[in-house]
Amino acid sequence: MMARMNTETFERALAAAARLTCCAALLGAGGSCRGGHSDAPDDVSEHSVKPPPAVVVESSAADPNNAEQLAAYRTSRLDACAAMIDQEFAPSDMKRGENPELADCCALVGEAQQVYWEDRRKREEGIKGGLDEPVPGYAEGWMMRGYHCCQINAWDGPECTPWGPPTPPSLERGHEQRSPRASVLDLRVAASEQARLRFGPAGLRASPALARRARATWLGRMINEHGSAEVFEGLAAQFDALERSEGFRLDARARGRLQGFAAEERRHGALCGAVVEGLGGRARAPAKADESFPAHPDARTPIEAALRNVLSIACVAETVAVALIGAERLTMPEGPLRGLLTEIYADECGHANWGWRVLPDLLARGSAEDPQLRARLGVYLRRAFAELEHHELAHLPVRATSCAGVGEPSTGEAALGLCEGSEARRLFYATVERVILPALEHHGLPARAAWRERALA
Ligand SMILES: [Fe+2]
Ligand SMILES: [Fe+2]
Repeated sequence: MMARMNTETFERALAAAARLTCCAALLGAGGSCRGGHSDAPDDVSEHSVKPPPAVVVESSAADPNNAEQLAAYRTSRLDACAAMIDQEFAPSDMKRGENPELADCCALVGEAQQVYWEDRRKREEGIKGGLDEPVPGYAEGWMMRGYHCCQINAWDGPECTPWGPPTPPSLERGHEQRSPRASVLDLRVAASEQARLRFGPAGLRASPALARRARATWLGRMINEHGSAEVFEGLAAQFDALERSEGFRLDARARGRLQGFAAEERRHGALCGAVVEGLGGRARAPAKADESFPAHPDARTPIEAALRNVLSIACVAETVAVALIGAERLTMPEGPLRGLLTEIYADECGHANWGWRVLPDLLARGSAEDPQLRARLGVYLRRAFAELEHHELAHLPVRATSCAGVGEPSTGEAALGLCEGSEARRLFYATVERVILPALEHHGLPARAAWRERALA
């Protein structure tokens, strides 16, 4: 049976995110809604598994553009693949090697069993007492086969790296990307110094397979976190301009906090790089694509333009980051890596909380001059939610599945910050539906409708 994220961890991570919203309606036990927001969250599990990325199949087997043919081909191939995996890895894993089909079979069977267990879990949630139907052959005994499949290169895919807030989208064009940046992000000096300080000369201990995945995880985080510094620089510059053009001035504390966020994100980048170095890797990678910070010239007022970015960056993306990092931190054993994660977590809480704190003043100022402001922000939120979902799912791949089986990370994985993709997705959707939407509605924004209609964006 698929293990799930510990319920207490899940609820504690959500409650911590809810506290940051300063939203009285959310501050009940466990962060669940009360008062005017008593509706229970929708079944988030219906979103938690999207169709997996296409498995590579031979071109002669099915038309890759024909979804029906592909699905039929995969189904017909599952049992053969399961048998091949058993044969290749039994009685020991010494026989694996040069079989080029094995990687594809591991991916095919792994994804199919992931979908199977997710479907089964959803049905069990709806049927008290569970299900009696037999487990199909390909899903039976996957714990062991999955472990072996994890060990081959083909299983290495993208890992869970969704933290840093992406550049906010503009309403019409999504992200206004300039061009791929040719530069390299090289944090080796700062990262190796932090690694020595925190993990000692021996670094972090891990098996080769786990170390490889953990390096990929933290290198991705390094890029995202460091890249988020430019997002906060853009936001700080926007508020400076707002003061000059509109006379809107944040209070001194909020202003000071905002000005420090970019430096915090760069530091997070170096800290994530320190984990890479501590695992024997190098904190050096292609820099994040260069994206222009949106000025939103189509907004009716500069306040509305600033609100779009505050909502997208702090109230939405950073609140999700708080929940995901919070859950990871709760499952990580005490030690220097947990200490590092706690430092990042504390800053991310500050980034999200800043947004929720400045939101009421901005809304009051903007709507005093423009009664339709909230309705128009609802239209922007559709776009912001669509981009958020795209970003989070892209950085929370279902394939980032526990090598110890399917479900929550094993102890060794949790100790290194590896996450289980489908469970992290479940937490993402719960954070949106149980924390962000009610908090935004509390401020009079039509957030639930915007979330429902995000596909229209
Ligand atoms: Fe960060
Ligand atoms: Fe942040």
